[in-house]
Amino acid sequence: MITRVEGLLYGADYNPEQWPESVWKQDANLMRDAGVTMVTLGVFSWARLQPAENEWDFAWLDRLMDLFDSRGIAVDLATATASPPAWFVRQYPETLPVTADGVRLEFGSRQHYCPSSPVYREAATKLARAIAERYGEHPALALWHIHNEYGDHVTECFCDVSAADFRRWLRERYGDDIAQLNFAWGAEFWSQRYSDFAQIEPPRTAPGPVNPGQLLDWRRFSSDALLACFLAERTVLKEVTPEIPVTTNFMSMMKDLDYWKWAAHEDVVSDDAYPDPADSSAHVQAAMNYDLMRSLGGGKPWLLMEQAPSAVSWRAVNVPKTPDQRRLWSLQTVARGADGVMHFQWRASRAGAEKFHSALLPHGGTQSRGWRETVKFGEELAKLTEVAGSRIESTVAIVLDWNSWWALEAEDHPSARVRLKEQILSWYSLLHRWNHVVDFVPPDADLSPYKVVLAPNLYSVSTENASRLSDYVYGGGYLVVGYFSGIVDELDHIHQGVDGTGGGYPGPLKDVLGVAVDEWWPIPDGRSVEVSFVADEESSQAKKKHKHSYSIGYHRTPSAVRWSEWIGATTARAVAHYTEGALKGRPAVTCNDFGEGRAWYVSCDLGGDIEKVLAEAVRPAVVWPSLASSLAFSGVEVVCRSSESHHYYFLLNHGDKQVDLGSAVPFGAVNLLTGSRPAHLAAQGVAVLKVGR
Ligand code: GLA
Ligand code: GLA
Repeated sequence: MITRVEGLLYGADYNPEQWPESVWKQDANLMRDAGVTMVTLGVFSWARLQPAENEWDFAWLDRLMDLFDSRGIAVDLATATASPPAWFVRQYPETLPVTADGVRLEFGSRQHYCPSSPVYREAATKLARAIAERYGEHPALALWHIHNEYGDHVTECFCDVSAADFRRWLRERYGDDIAQLNFAWGAEFWSQRYSDFAQIEPPRTAPGPVNPGQLLDWRRFSSDALLACFLAERTVLKEVTPEIPVTTNFMSMMKDLDYWKWAAHEDVVSDDAYPDPADSSAHVQAAMNYDLMRSLGGGKPWLLMEQAPSAVSWRAVNVPKTPDQRRLWSLQTVARGADGVMHFQWRASRAGAEKFHSALLPHGGTQSRGWRETVKFGEELAKLTEVAGSRIESTVAIVLDWNSWWALEAEDHPSARVRLKEQILSWYSLLHRWNHVVDFVPPDADLSPYKVVLAPNLYSVSTENASRLSDYVYGGGYLVVGYFSGIVDELDHIHQGVDGTGGGYPGPLKDVLGVAVDEWWPIPDGRSVEVSFVADEESSQAKKKHKHSYSIGYHRTPSAVRWSEWIGATTARAVAHYTEGALKGRPAVTCNDFGEGRAWYVSCDLGGDIEKVLAEAVRPAVVWPSLASSLAFSGVEVVCRSSESHHYYFLLNHGDKQVDLGSAVPFGAVNLLTGSRPAHLAAQGVAVLKVGR
């Protein structure tokens, strides 16, 4: 992944500005003792590197770069652009970001910049260039860390400079044709039509609901404005040091930035992951995020750029990680394709907003438990060196489209309770329990590598992308589509159908799904609607007829919450019906044979009961290795990474009970962490089995 460092990366953000120089050497030596292979340097160093507009100070960083080089530690060098210094802000106050209410955000935190500001962008690229020219040839330099967490704190700015940039962006998008914009935004509604681009402003706080087309374009623009900042720095770095890989640290499955667009410009995808130790299912959402990171990089190994060694400081209640949890969650990232485990941060701060955030070297220093864990984990990670570079194969994909996400969660929809990430997570959770590794794909992806494609929600889908899905099913693929899908096109206009009288929902997905949706029937908070599955009805009737039938125990009746729909099956067959309320007797879930394949439509939010649908749908996607399926439901997460010569089975026990592995362990398999063949997996334990191919 990063050619200058072998094996898996281990390290942290290091903020040397916070410490006297006498501490640096001690830190570098301790890093070496802990097996640290890479440090992230300079993330918040702007004020030190450029103390005034025409003043630069690199001497201190020179000494640090040399110090790390002398200890054999590589540097992930930041461009330091995420927190402009006070002098810059006072000299260029117009670069401070403005909220939708017109409040200009003050200096005193971080990320206080307007993404569209040419002044900010110029200063940032100047800094990036100065750093690149100074350290481009330095032997310690392994990776460029552009900026830090784009979109953390500030994702959009409503100042006049942003407004002008928005208008420029719109002119480009609509070919300088205001009529096209009026059409796209449905601007005939409420007398909103424009006669000139100059009349357009950002969607600032307004008396009532703001035009959804304007809001959607604003989201696209805001993601692109930050992307332009990233690309401006990237261009400079690639010009000066074309051979050094670049990354910027993502923030897991984040709504504000269309990461498909971003990842295309990264050599390495990296992520900052902060699962909450207080949440007993946090590892499931974490797995989902890691699968996304791997997918964003097209399957290549990614890098865990930041995690907390223990507690964070920014939640209301910051629960630490137990030692086992820390190890388990760290190795989970490697299991799901990370080629490195990095942290925020190296040495716990003694002052500042994050002084209560855990670190690899805690306030208690080398006498602390945390430090012993830091050293121990470094030793363990070194045992997995050969895993670096290995890949993960998946035959199940989930479609994720940021444009659809933004459009879906707009205001004034049938229900404000629909949230894409929750919806994806509820489906993903089952796949995780069954040990299916999932790839995420953009809506225009080549689906041919997959046996099963899931679209928990595809509110917005273009006719072309809908055809892709139809063709995929026609050719033999299995597809499951969740409720409120196929509703609008890329402009957030309701699909009209071919004859112009209104084609009805689910628009261009009607044929492949074989259903017609008549009307949505959101379910009020706190209520649910019972659903019964045809297969269950048939088997209970069969049981009634059979003399010696016996009950196999209590089964909770499946039910829908949040959402249901009045649908009719055209060519599909009902798999489940609503059994009460306004929709009683109507289909709730359908299945349509289409060409060589099959497509399900789930018209309601089944929560965990989606299991009944997905269990059937994912059947062609065999869980592999067999160990993974035999441990499904046991709480043990199994992921296989493969190199040309070997498979590495990561077994991660997220449960609080020991699990016997017994005959599940393949012949000749050895746990790389212990050097022996495991018979069981302790509660929260991990094994990495090496098996020849
Ligand atoms: C009010 C307004 C209408 C419309 C409806 C929608 O009555 O006068 O323009 O917005 O609400 O319910
Ligand atoms: C983010 C930032 C870091 C730090 C950590 C704390 O990931 O990138 O600078 O603030 O959060 O958890």
